[in-house]
Amino acid sequence: MDNLKVVILAAGQGTRMKSEVPKVLHRVLDKTMAGYVIEASQEAGADDICVIVGHQSAMVKNTLKDMYDNIKFAVQKEQLGTGHAVMQAGDFIKDGNILVLCGDTPLITAETIQKLCSVHESSDNSVTVVSMVVDDPTGYGRIVRENDNFAKIVEQKDASEDEAEINEVNTGVYIFKAEYLNKAFEKLGNNNSQGEYYLTDTLEIIKNDGGKVGIMVADDADEFMGVNSKLQLSQAIAVMKERINTKLMLEGVTITDPASTYIGKDVKIAPDTIIYPGCMLEGKTVIGKSCIIGPNTRITSSQVDDCVTIQMSVLNDAKVKSFTTVGPFAYLRPNSCIGEHCRIGDFVEIKNSNIDDGTKVSHLTYVGDSDVGKCVNFGCGTVTVNYDGKNKYRCKIGNEVFIGCNTNLVAPVEIADRAYTAAGSTITKNVPEDSLAIARNRQENKEGWRKKVNK
Ligand code: UD1
Ligand code: CA
Repeated sequence: MDNLKVVILAAGQGTRMKSEVPKVLHRVLDKTMAGYVIEASQEAGADDICVIVGHQSAMVKNTLKDMYDNIKFAVQKEQLGTGHAVMQAGDFIKDGNILVLCGDTPLITAETIQKLCSVHESSDNSVTVVSMVVDDPTGYGRIVRENDNFAKIVEQKDASEDEAEINEVNTGVYIFKAEYLNKAFEKLGNNNSQGEYYLTDTLEIIKNDGGKVGIMVADDADEFMGVNSKLQLSQAIAVMKERINTKLMLEGVTITDPASTYIGKDVKIAPDTIIYPGCMLEGKTVIGKSCIIGPNTRITSSQVDDCVTIQMSVLNDAKVKSFTTVGPFAYLRPNSCIGEHCRIGDFVEIKNSNIDDGTKVSHLTYVGDSDVGKCVNFGCGTVTVNYDGKNKYRCKIGNEVFIGCNTNLVAPVEIADRAYTAAGSTITKNVPEDSLAIARNRQENKEGWRKKVNK
């Protein structure tokens, strides 16, 4: 649609969330509610978006600005109602088609936005409102019809007994021709039970001024679920989770227990990968084909190539190449890159390190700020000692190195190709190629000692 402008209402406090975090920043899976609304608009082809912020405006603005480029913001200092909120967009709404969305309806889809735009355009409406039919209309504005046509919207708090019975309600999604909206704003008052400037009243004003008000009845009421409480947040999460899991399963991913599997919208998973129960996959994570993930694994913004097994582990901003196994109980921290055919075993933590192909770090080891070659074997209990309380230093470990159990590698230090360290060594000096470094006291046996001390 030409000249489409999106206004997203996000200035309200969200009192019913009982939270210090502004409502629209609460997360459904790994993304803020306002984020979904912005993305649905963008996916529908809108690139002119203005978010109305108010309550904790700096926090809302900064969070969204970090995530999305090219979003405009307008501030509503006092929350005087949804109509007043849209007015704050000022020049942004002076012309074109103004699509109004709420920041607290994260389930809306791009398809629905596109459909609304085409209904609005083909019917040549002055304004088109999306309605939905619900079993329990409590809390919503009711759509009052006259001979099937739009008459007005009555808010719950202003509804008569008869009007309260109506179960066709306002979703809070509309598209206006700018000139009709601006003209209606001139007449909009706040003479209602809440003393607010209701956006909903502009529709009746437009109708009375001879404009054409259309109603598009939504097929799927879930899409317009407004999240006003933590209970509703959990319901929105359930819907979003099911949507994402369903899509992935239809694309060939095995999810053995969708109910306990939480996958973010931006996560990509190739077919024939199996996700076992209790997994959270988040951010821009990409997982290849034929992997086995879980049970009980959390992967955030990481890249996992094909045929990788990860169980009961946590990965954050890490990269794992093909045919590698991770876990159980491993922790891969930011900027870790694990090569192909590696083994990262139990109680191993890796941070800011490169581990090349075929290397095994099987148990109870910390590798931080290190560059590790191919086919290295780490004995149990190895620690890279990379921090002196002030600065961090790197360890460099060559190819085919064998690190004995319980070795401390005090950085900066380099272990050259094919070198060995003896178990229990604290290595502080570089170790040359093909050599064995022993850095521990020799064992001395004091024979008969027990009898002597007991005498
Ligand atoms: C609103 C509609 C109602 C509709 C429902 C759908 C009005 C008067 N009522 O009611 O008809 O059925 O949405 O969910 O529009 N906001 C501001 N500034 C304000 C007031 C609100 O930015 O001054 C924002 C809120 O942050 C929220 C959105 O507008 O994102 C909707 O406000 P809310 O108070 O939740 O309206 P409802 O009572 O749900
Ligand atoms: Ca609401």
